[in-house]
Amino acid sequence: MPRPRRRTDPAADLSRTLVAAIEANTATVSVIGQGYVGLSVAAAAARAGMRTIGVDLDADRVASLSSGQQVVPGVDDELFVEAFATGRLGFTTDPAVVGDSDVVLICVPTPLIDSRPDLAAIEGAGAAVGRYLMPGTLVILESTTYPGTTEQVLRPLLESHGRVAGADLLLAYSPERINPGDHAHGFAGVPRVVGGLTEHCTAAAAAFYGRLVDIVHPVSSCRAAELAKLLENTYRLVNIALVNELAQLCADQGIDTWEVIDAAATKPFGFQRFEPGPGVGGHCIPLDPAYLTWQSRRDTGRPFRLVELAKDINDQMPSYTARRIMDSLNRRGIAVKGSKLLALGVTYKPDVGDVRESAAIQVLAHLSSWGAKLSFHDPFVTSIDEHGVKLRRRRLTEDLVRDADAVILLTPHATYDLDEIAGWSSLLFDARNATGRRDHPDIEVL
Ligand SMILES: NC(=O)c1ccc[n+]([C@@H]2O[C@H](COP(=O)([O-])OP(=O)(O)OC[C@H]3O[C@@H](n4cnc5c(N)ncnc54)[C@H](O)[C@@H]3O)[C@@H](O)[C@H]2O)c1
Repeated sequence: MPRPRRRTDPAADLSRTLVAAIEANTATVSVIGQGYVGLSVAAAAARAGMRTIGVDLDADRVASLSSGQQVVPGVDDELFVEAFATGRLGFTTDPAVVGDSDVVLICVPTPLIDSRPDLAAIEGAGAAVGRYLMPGTLVILESTTYPGTTEQVLRPLLESHGRVAGADLLLAYSPERINPGDHAHGFAGVPRVVGGLTEHCTAAAAAFYGRLVDIVHPVSSCRAAELAKLLENTYRLVNIALVNELAQLCADQGIDTWEVIDAAATKPFGFQRFEPGPGVGGHCIPLDPAYLTWQSRRDTGRPFRLVELAKDINDQMPSYTARRIMDSLNRRGIAVKGSKLLALGVTYKPDVGDVRESAAIQVLAHLSSWGAKLSFHDPFVTSIDEHGVKLRRRRLTEDLVRDADAVILLTPHATYDLDEIAGWSSLLFDARNATGRRDHPDIEVL
């Protein structure tokens, strides 16, 4: 009796073929969007041995990168230089290159407009690449977004030219989780979460990232991977809000917030240290949780209460910090109106050059609206023109510090010699407890 012929699953075959190509270093990669996320992963893929092409709409950026100039803030220069030197990393503005790619990554911006997710760039990228995709291509979305985007928004665009995701096209989501300015956790050291449309999609995506990072963590769906990313950043938002509100309670009760946090942090389990500050910034923690709150209200009509409350608390921190600075001046008989205030550090966190959503600038906006005369220094920022605050950087000198009624340390970059600055200041308001000198008569800590 003839044996029944084994039915083969075409998607399984495509996935196996792709995994073999990835492992043999013959797979080719294109990365749509050459911002911080896209350029980092493109460089990592090229360094790992895969021929990689970065695609961006911005012709100037493409021209600079093509000539070996790393022009994207925050990208690891060493990674870029190493990758570029291999000759495997190229750049173009033409999305047609995806027709020659085995793996296509989409790393385009997903901003909020009026607190609503704006997926126009994902839609634009999906529409641009859809027509060129060949059978067996693996498409992975890396942009941060709400659960369902890969399947409900990107998938139809990719399928509009006849391909079928999960059959002749492999589709997955994998969030970028890298922490700008964090040299302890480089690209390879941050585990990758991957979730595919089918198990074959997940397997192919896991094989791809397995070449770039030490640990890959597969999950059962694109939606689980999308939500995992939002959970991580929402967790930070909520815990930062908790210590920000604790700091206000401590100030009212005359308790030292930092002593309390130090004490709680001695617990070896069940507690993770978060620290208060003038507010959350950057374009991840303040924004990403809004995808969740927006989706919850859209799909169920219910607010995601804890997250909305956390956002409110954090949003009030710049004005709270400004009021605390006003109180400190007041205690010394100085009116905020007309006072000379020198702000140190205006980026959203230490040792990065990013001022997006920076709470420090919002603190300055409050102080400026009350009539303070502001000046600022930041090693990474030459001028500010935001929230009505328009300033050029001053040179940080002893005279400048001594001339100020108060120095406001908002973002403690590593280059600041805090002992020296504290010695020159008549009043140092330390919004991050960077000096650790809460008992000093001329230092006030948030
Ligand atoms: N920067 C971070 O720290 C970080 C971390 C994790 C996740 N993310 C997420 O990753 C995504 C990308 O972030 P980013 O910081 O790299 O963005 P970015 O704004 O720095 O860069 C995006 C790039 O995409 C290009 N682009 C937009 N539409 C395009 C298209 N259709 N075709 C080709 N290029 C296109 C833009 O010209 C720009 O150069 C966002 O969803 C962001 O939320 C960012």
